[in-house]
Amino acid sequence: MINRVTIIGAGNLTNSLLAAIHRNRFSYKIDVIDTNKKKKFSLKKFNVNFFSSYTDIMTKSNLIILMVKPNNYIEVIKEINPFLSEKMILVSFMAGIGCASIKNKLTQDIPVVRCMTNITISDSEAHIFYHMKPFSKNIAYILNKFFETFSKLKKCINEGDIDKITALYGSGPAYYVYFNKIIKDVFINMGYSEKDATIFTNDLMHGTSKIIKNNKNSDDIMSAIASKGGTTQAALTELKNNKVDSMILKAIKKAYKKSKNILKK
Ligand SMILES: NC(=O)c1ccc[n+]([C@@H]2O[C@H](COP(=O)([O-])OP(=O)(O)OC[C@H]3O[C@@H](n4cnc5c(N)ncnc54)[C@H](OP(=O)(O)O)[C@@H]3O)[C@@H](O)[C@H]2O)c1
Repeated sequence: MINRVTIIGAGNLTNSLLAAIHRNRFSYKIDVIDTNKKKKFSLKKFNVNFFSSYTDIMTKSNLIILMVKPNNYIEVIKEINPFLSEKMILVSFMAGIGCASIKNKLTQDIPVVRCMTNITISDSEAHIFYHMKPFSKNIAYILNKFFETFSKLKKCINEGDIDKITALYGSGPAYYVYFNKIIKDVFINMGYSEKDATIFTNDLMHGTSKIIKNNKNSDDIMSAIASKGGTTQAALTELKNNKVDSMILKAIKKAYKKSKNILKK
C-alpha cells in the first residue's frame, strides 16, 4: 500500500491535487520537489515536506507523481532516475507525454501509469483517467485505494484515449471559464460595472452548474428556459445559425491534435 508519495512540481495541478487530498484524512507522508523555491509558500497549508532539489528522501516513496510541464520531462526523468527503484509506481499527469517516452528514458523497469484530470479536482470529486501497459491488476488496486478517497478513477484501455481526455477534460475548465468571460464582457458592454458583471456572471455559472448536475438532459433544461418565439430562443437560434457548435468541435480537435504531438512547435 502507499505510505509515502513524492510529487515532482508544485504548480497549479499539484495545488489542486493537494487540496483534494486534504479534503480527506490521509495517513501517508507527502514530499514535494520543485526547483522553484518560491513554490514552498503556496504549499504551507497542505502540511507536506518541500524540497527544492532532488534528495534521497525520494527512495522512501512508493508512488512518484510527475506534475511538471511536458517540455521539462526529459530533464526531470534524468533527475529522478537515480532515486527510482522497481518497488515504485511512476504516475505522470503530463499532457501529451506517452508512457513509452518515459519508460525509454528510465534505466530500470518501473511501472509507468499515465493519468489525466483537471483543476476542478480541488473541490469536486473529479475523474482521474489512467492508462498503463501492460495492465497490472495489482497496480490498479493500489492506485484505486489511493485515488478513490478524493476522486473517481477510470481506466483507459487505449493510450490514445488519454490524449482525447486531455483535450476534453484536462483543458475542459478553461472552455467554461472562457464562455463565462464572454458573458461577463457582454454585461460590461451593455452598461454594467466590472464588479456587478463579475458577480452576476459567476452567479449564473454557479447556479447553472448545479442545475446541470441535478438534471442530466441539456435539452430539458434549455426548453425549461426558452419558450417558442421568446428572448432565449432568439439568442440560441443566432448561436446555432453561426455554427458555434462546429467552432467548438474544431477548437477541441485542435487541442486533441496538440496532445498527440505536444512537443512539436
Ligand atoms: N494546469 C492544469 O489545468 C492541468 C490539467 C491537466 C494536466 N496538466 C498537466 O500537469 C502538469 C503540470 O501542470 P501545471 O499547470 O501544474 O504546471 P506549472 O504550474 O507550471 O507547475 C510545474 C512546476 O514544476 C516546476 N519545475 C520545472 N522544472 C522542474 C524540475 N526539473 N524539477 C522540479 N520542478 C520543476 C515549475 O517551476 P517553474 O515555475 O520555475 O517553471 C513549476 O513550479 C503539466 O504536464 C500539464 O500538462 C495540467
